[in-house]
Amino acid sequence: MNAESSTKLMTAVVVGAGNRSLVYASYASKHPEELRIVGVVEPDASRRQLAAERFGLPPEACFSTVEELIAGGTRLADAAINGTMDELHVETTVPLLRAGYHVLLEKPIGITEEEVETIRQEARRNDRIVMVCHVLRYAPFYRAIKERLVEGAIGEIVNIQTAEHVSYHHMAVSFVRGKWNSKEKCGSSMIMAKCCHDTDLLSWLAGDAKPVKVSSFGSLMQFRPDKAPEGSGTRCLVDCRIEDSCPYSARKNYIEQGLWKSYVWPNWHLGSRPTEEQLAESLRTDNPYGRCVWRCDNDVVDHQSVIVEFDSGATASHNMIGATSRPCRIIHIVGTKGEMLGVMEDGEFVVRTHDARKGREYAEEKVKIDVAGDNHGGGDLRLVHDFVRVLRGEQPSISTTSLDQSIDGHRIGFAAERARVSGCIVHL
Ligand SMILES: NC(=O)c1ccc[n+]([C@@H]2O[C@H](COP(=O)([O-])OP(=O)(O)OC[C@H]3O[C@@H](n4cnc5c(N)ncnc54)[C@H](O)[C@@H]3O)[C@@H](O)[C@H]2O)c1
Repeated sequence: MNAESSTKLMTAVVVGAGNRSLVYASYASKHPEELRIVGVVEPDASRRQLAAERFGLPPEACFSTVEELIAGGTRLADAAINGTMDELHVETTVPLLRAGYHVLLEKPIGITEEEVETIRQEARRNDRIVMVCHVLRYAPFYRAIKERLVEGAIGEIVNIQTAEHVSYHHMAVSFVRGKWNSKEKCGSSMIMAKCCHDTDLLSWLAGDAKPVKVSSFGSLMQFRPDKAPEGSGTRCLVDCRIEDSCPYSARKNYIEQGLWKSYVWPNWHLGSRPTEEQLAESLRTDNPYGRCVWRCDNDVVDHQSVIVEFDSGATASHNMIGATSRPCRIIHIVGTKGEMLGVMEDGEFVVRTHDARKGREYAEEKVKIDVAGDNHGGGDLRLVHDFVRVLRGEQPSISTTSLDQSIDGHRIGFAAERARVSGCIVHL
């Protein structure tokens, strides 16, 4: 990452000092010669203060709203890192674009097709860059697959199959107990909140082919009161008789296994460290992550299948399956001359090509990928690196997500949800 990086220092304001923004902003701590965080916009006063301390910001660089940030008329930074929640993306991004900021925007771009279009038009009108955080494109695993497709390693794409297995503890924390458990609450369906990465991969890997038809099936099958096991209660640490044997026990997941701390404990991502007793007490009382997974206010699906037809004739499918034992993403692409398949978390994929010589059937190459590093298969900070490069006016990488290129994947996701709810085929 360092090869061409020491040319020009870029500056950014963090908008929404939550979990995701801080992941991206951590690039500035790792590469201070490339990126500096010079301001923060955050309505929560304690979070704003902690973020100010993290980045050494003076009070005059801290704001509770975007309107306050832009009020003075002087632009504080080259760009904004917008990690607000889904339903706030448009209302926070539009004023930033109008005030001259380029924006690194968390996915989904917006919660409706109209919102996505608004951002596209505002970016164009103000001649600003909006780079969408489709972090998987930057994961070395998918990047290597894309490079081979572009080289023509398996010929023309006939079919792409992807699957995301959302582990039992991830499903519970995000889509049953947590912030994305209800479309009404967060604005996004499960397929948009979790899998707009995957629908983006489908359209990115399909190259110039455009999606034309989408259909989808899925439902909330598991996390409902009528599926609650005998002995379960309302809170794991209050009235549950099977807590000891339940894989969804909040105590096990969030204290013993130590998973999802930044989701479950406010300001953990900014260094807050309650004691174990305080953690248990919060799970017993008012912490929403202490609730029984069969008795929450969730309404999003826990599994969904999406099928897509492209104008090239190619087809694709994506299966989102919640509550699996192991989290993973699986891909299998079949082309006219061969196929590629692999599991991202295994750190390798296989390229097979037809081989009709006597005694052979196919040739096979194993490609090993280093999946160490930050989350999303190493994609998170590589994406910020590319954003900084694009800000500096350098050549974008093969993964760079211009807004126009990001929109097709979103259109597949929105259409899939419409198709699932109405039981129809959506023509794009
Ligand atoms: N790329 C990925 O893989 C990935 C993973 C998880 C979440 N996300 C997306 O990232 C986004 C943020 O998720 P998160 O978990 O970091 O959320 P978060 O709740 O941790 O952070 C959002 C922050 O925005 C602040 N905020 C609220 N209103 C605001 C306003 N008007 N102006 C500025 N700040 C405001 C909140 O106080 C909070 O601190 C969501 O859109 C989510 O869907 C993406």
